[in-house]
Amino acid sequence: MIAISFAVEGLGRREVFGKKGVLWVPTFKDMLTEKSIFRNKETLSPHFVPEHMLFRENEIRTLMEGLLPALKDQKPHNMFIYGGTGTGKTASSRTVIEKLVSEGSDRIKPVYMNCRVYDTRYKVLQKCISHFNPDFAKTGFSFSVLYERLLDWVEGDGDHIEAKRLIVVLDELDMVKDLDSLIYTLVRANDDLKKGSVSIVGISNKVNFKIRLDARSRSSLCEREIVFQPYNAMQLQGILKQRIKQAFEDDSVVDESGINLAAAIASAENGDARYALLLLLRAGELADSRKTRITDKEVQDARKQAEEDKAFEIISTLPEHQQIFLLALSSLSLDSQYHRLVEEGGERFYLSGETYEKYCHYVKKMGKEPRTSRWMREYIVELDALGLITSIQSGKGVRGRTTLVRLAYEPEKVRKIVESTLTGP
Ligand SMILES: Nc1ncnc2c1ncn2[C@@H]1O[C@H](COP(=O)(O)OP(=O)(O)O)[C@@H](O)[C@H]1O
Ligand SMILES: [Mg+2]
Repeated sequence: MIAISFAVEGLGRREVFGKKGVLWVPTFKDMLTEKSIFRNKETLSPHFVPEHMLFRENEIRTLMEGLLPALKDQKPHNMFIYGGTGTGKTASSRTVIEKLVSEGSDRIKPVYMNCRVYDTRYKVLQKCISHFNPDFAKTGFSFSVLYERLLDWVEGDGDHIEAKRLIVVLDELDMVKDLDSLIYTLVRANDDLKKGSVSIVGISNKVNFKIRLDARSRSSLCEREIVFQPYNAMQLQGILKQRIKQAFEDDSVVDESGINLAAAIASAENGDARYALLLLLRAGELADSRKTRITDKEVQDARKQAEEDKAFEIISTLPEHQQIFLLALSSLSLDSQYHRLVEEGGERFYLSGETYEKYCHYVKKMGKEPRTSRWMREYIVELDALGLITSIQSGKGVRGRTTLVRLAYEPEKVRKIVESTLTGP
């Protein structure tokens, strides 16, 4: 079959059409032989842990120092690691755990978990046991039985089975619902143990989260603290270059200025290496579909895409009425017959009052009761603060002062996302 393929600008994936414009679905074999600039895309995934963590030698060393007592059969220190997203906390801790495991001691037992999944004291304890004892039945135990089980396992039996140094690494620990009791339990376990120990390494993206802990948990957890600072543009360039060698067939497919641009964008976005790597991945996908190299243009477009994705994630979690308001505004923006709009600085703004009427129309169509226009004013402030719309006050014209609004993203895309969240997939 002869297929005409062309890249759809900005989509980052190829829409391939056969004759008569019918969508042509390739075979897996076709896809495998499609040329790509990537060698191994997975190395750009946020879950990838590189062999060498750049610029984190000190942090890794401090972490290792805190855990070193385990190798002298002493209790490792509790530690608290914090810093913004994408500053290498997870990857550094995983690196240190691997180093520790590679020491090959049967007594040292580090267990890593992400508290988005293990978000209660019960689940954390269960994970601590089942991680090392895969046969352990996961359900049906009361908390106290679970706790006793854990202590028994840590203590060993004194003859054949040695006592252990359990190190519980709790990533994103701010997600734990009963965090104070979890920390209290893990700390107290050491009083109940005759041998062995339990230590905590807590990790959080939320810099101010410590304040939420009660004083006792805080002082136990924060025995030692390690702060991960944001990366600067130079460091991000280094991280990108390291990854480019692994991710692409030939590292010359990425323009030096493209790397610098991605690094500069990510350093302005809180020095987030995850974001820098995401830009590189998306830019690479765009380059693949356009059959070009990665230049500034691909990086800029990747950024636009990433921003849109972020906005759409926010939209899909908004309260229903705010979503309907966005739907109303997108439908006004898409209505070519609609002329009562205002041009300000080359942008088309819509009257908030008319957007409200459209909103009421949609709400009623859904069989619901519209909120008052006072609520709508609140929505406008909130949606503006989230960067989803722009609102301005009109000058004193014929209509008097009124609020004008416009969508910050393409109306067609906004409408699609709202429709799909409101009606389900
Ligand atoms: N210093 C670094 N050297 C190499 N890659 C890094 C470095 N810091 C972060 N990364 C990469 O950036 C991404 C995000 O890092 P991660 O450890 O998940 O950040 P955090 O846990 O602080 O949000 C991962 O893909 C990680 O491999
Ligand atoms: Mg992390």
